[in-house]
Amino acid sequence: MESNEFIDNLISKMTVEQKAAQMLQVPVSVVGMEEARKWARLGAGSFLNVLGSDMEELSRISCEESDLKIPVIFGIDAVHGHCLNPDATIFPSQLAMACSWNRKLLEKVAQVTAAEVATEGIQWTFSPILCLARDSRWGRTDETFGEDKYLAGELGAAMVKGYQGDDLSGDCSIASCAKHYIGYGESSGARDSYDTEITMRKIREQFLPPFRKATEAGCATVMISYGSIDGTPMTINKTALKDVLRDELKFDGFTVTDWDTVNYLITRQMVCRDHSDASRLAALAGNDMIMSSLEFYEAVIGEVREGRLDESVLDEAVRHILTVKYRLGLWDSPLKKGIPGSIGCSAHHEAALEAARQSVVLLKNDGFLPINLKRKIRKIAVIGPNADDIRAQYGDWTYFTHPVPGIEKEPRRPYVTLLEGVRDRLEGTGIEVTYSYGCSVNRRYYYKGNYPGIPEFMAMCYADNDHDAETYKELPFINEAVSAARGADLIILALGDNYDQTGEYNDRADLNLSGMQEALVRMLGTLHIPMITVLIASKPLTIPKVVQKSDAVICAFNGGMFSGQAIAEVIFGDINPSGRLPISFPVMTGQNPVYYDQLPGWHDGRYVDCPKNPLFAFGEGLSYTWYDYSDLKFDVKTKTLSVNVTNKGGMSGVETVQVYVHDEVSSVIKPVKTLCGFTRVELDAGQSRTVSVKLDDEAFETVLPDGTRVIEPGMFEIMAGHSSKDEDLIKVTVEL
Ligand code: BGC
Repeated sequence: MESNEFIDNLISKMTVEQKAAQMLQVPVSVVGMEEARKWARLGAGSFLNVLGSDMEELSRISCEESDLKIPVIFGIDAVHGHCLNPDATIFPSQLAMACSWNRKLLEKVAQVTAAEVATEGIQWTFSPILCLARDSRWGRTDETFGEDKYLAGELGAAMVKGYQGDDLSGDCSIASCAKHYIGYGESSGARDSYDTEITMRKIREQFLPPFRKATEAGCATVMISYGSIDGTPMTINKTALKDVLRDELKFDGFTVTDWDTVNYLITRQMVCRDHSDASRLAALAGNDMIMSSLEFYEAVIGEVREGRLDESVLDEAVRHILTVKYRLGLWDSPLKKGIPGSIGCSAHHEAALEAARQSVVLLKNDGFLPINLKRKIRKIAVIGPNADDIRAQYGDWTYFTHPVPGIEKEPRRPYVTLLEGVRDRLEGTGIEVTYSYGCSVNRRYYYKGNYPGIPEFMAMCYADNDHDAETYKELPFINEAVSAARGADLIILALGDNYDQTGEYNDRADLNLSGMQEALVRMLGTLHIPMITVLIASKPLTIPKVVQKSDAVICAFNGGMFSGQAIAEVIFGDINPSGRLPISFPVMTGQNPVYYDQLPGWHDGRYVDCPKNPLFAFGEGLSYTWYDYSDLKFDVKTKTLSVNVTNKGGMSGVETVQVYVHDEVSSVIKPVKTLCGFTRVELDAGQSRTVSVKLDDEAFETVLPDGTRVIEPGMFEIMAGHSSKDEDLIKVTVEL
């Protein structure tokens, strides 16, 4: 039977109660299994974050004991791998993987994740995240592809393809979810869920493009954000949900609210008096599935019965949900089949290692890297709180941070921390590797042990720190680290943040290294031993002093299960680093926002007490070779650029050719430059290649105040090069 006919037929048999139930997504972790069974019998449309036998039981109840036997769709936050399952493959965070600027890699990662999620039976992941992180104080920066709409759109669309495959009904295809719609990352003060003061024009220019790309790639679902825009909660923003998402973007899947947001209309945003109001407005605005606000069920039934809400509103929502379920093939196979035995299999681990390698960004190298083991090295000291902490390496959204009932939180092998990666790499070389913890990332957690008293000279060094008991406890750790490093030929120092400083509820007002980490750097600096600093963190931190004191700096963000191995491979030159930053690093917290595509101002754009430029710019990243750009041409007819790229060094490498456009004159102020294309090119030492990049019309468009997109005729600068920095780009000017 055709999908439409099948679904119309089904809807015609549904009561108002069954329609309301179909719109519900029940949080099993909150209500427990007993209540979840009840909802399954009533015909609830979905459950979230439930695994194993509980999930199988709920599926069976829906298919066998509910009146209409409509299969359930299970949703899960598999956002960098199927990470709530401790046996699954854990990839780098989205931000880390964005450093690869590699569409194919992201597609592959999503494919592997889909296979693992599907093998568990689950049919839907709440990924990819398409919010932009333009102020890294935001706690969810790690979940994004960084600060740029074009990069986010390209990588997001690649993930959608990877999750969904060619056919959603495939055994290993799962529905993806573009989230959080829209403008969520732009909240005031980078405080999660606060109001966003942006206009619909700005939304169309900056924040909508990634969602457009995801929709064009066939993304089956969209999650509506917690936030609000100019005082209107997204949950009731009919213009954004209907006029823009459905009519303009032609989105044809179903929408899902974020967690409990229908209740938040009453309790937090205070725009509704009661559940009846909140449920009616949420349904009218275009929310198809309601996550977690179970009061919606009774309330929306009441609204229909009492004539305040037309039943056709529920029909439309249910039609969207059932259509996706149909496309997923749930009536043939209510749970996905996946590939038995594939969860955490060696091929998937290989993909995680490759993702980790491509996520590594070399930010500074005073010619010190790669370490040549033929030189006389006898001892390497690996120091720092994040050198041997798998939780810091994993970051947010794993079985540690979001445990599912019944799943234990203990770290599960295999994984490789940086310390382990260095030790494995040096095995058999006779080089001694010493390790010391150094200090806590975050004072809430302490390394347990007995330490001698704090030396007087150290206490003096930190006269500017709070001399509380906790600070003193940290000093022995630093003391121990300095002793461990003494006499080493090289220090590898791993600093950063930990998972309790990232994610929801964890925005930061201060992006400096927390705890005593800077003191640790200063003390190690007194030894005058070459030092490689590795940043294992969820986001850009303000590290100018650390950069100054280090001979080399590597950024790995949260690199997943094999990040330690990947970083060691970079340090010892087994691979040539190719990562590029998808987000700028501010010099100091107050320099935020520091994203590259700012609108021009005329007061020089700098604070009196801070340099103008970021510490590291969008697109930046070194390798063990360097590239020369020449002969830039742009064919106006085909909108295709060509440029000659030469590997000038002695090692083969991968260069990411970045293309930016600047509109010389436009009727509204536009960014100083906008990324409009990129491609990765592999070049042997000395090799040259002509690289072509075709630009979309969007590269030249202006979004007018009324929201229309037009190409205003005139001159455009087309720039190509190694990063967003002016000195890294060559340009031509063309007329369109
Ligand atoms: C987050 C979403 C997530 C949902 C379900 C919410 O708190 O904002 O990103 O998908 O929870 O776990």
